[in-house]
Amino acid sequence: MTPSLISPPLPISPHLSNSPLKLGVMASGSGSNMEAIARAIADGQLNANIQTIIYNNPDAGVVARANRLGIPAVLLNHREFESREALDLKIIQTLKQYQVEWVIMAGWMRRVTQVLIDAFPRRILNIHPSLLPSFPGVRAVEQALAAGVKFSGCTVHFVELEVDSGPIVIQAVVPVLPDDTPKTLQARIQVQEHRIFPAAISLAAAQADPEIQTC
Ligand code: GAR
Repeated sequence: MTPSLISPPLPISPHLSNSPLKLGVMASGSGSNMEAIARAIADGQLNANIQTIIYNNPDAGVVARANRLGIPAVLLNHREFESREALDLKIIQTLKQYQVEWVIMAGWMRRVTQVLIDAFPRRILNIHPSLLPSFPGVRAVEQALAAGVKFSGCTVHFVELEVDSGPIVIQAVVPVLPDDTPKTLQARIQVQEHRIFPAAISLAAAQADPEIQTC
């Protein structure tokens, strides 16, 4: 039998505040993490609402998922902005328009600036497919395979200016198997991403507001 999970069960109960967390999701790709968060909300595991999804690639798969789930999706194509700061200002404006309180970077493949970070202090979470601080940046799964590590995983962390840095909220570990390809390892990691991201949002919100009960 192939072990797929090294991490223990998450000892985290739902965010229990009366008012749902207002999430804004930023995504560049397929959007499977966004959908996992939406599913956790629908299942009552996360007390939140996805107010809007911002995406930067016109053909990103996240759009079809957003349409199916009835979540408004806004295209902000980075190619049409003169600077990273200009894009971030438009992102902030859009997130505020949808009354977003927590920013969830779910496969957002652009560097963000201090402009965005300052607009949502300690309210921006990112997921990355490695055990940070190992293998930050692009092609993290390929980096792990090239390094020959025997374990890898995923990390949800608060966003700071340096790419894939910032305080860690939750990590999950998976084994790297001898015949793994980037595709098979990525798939094993994504199972864990979908599990820890909703839990990390709940935990981060509880830490930000001690009034919120977590157990
Ligand atoms: C996820 O594996 C996420 O960890 C990664 O992009 C993928 C998005 O998948 N993010 C990064 O590499 C950020 N540095 P999804 O579109 O299916 O959610």
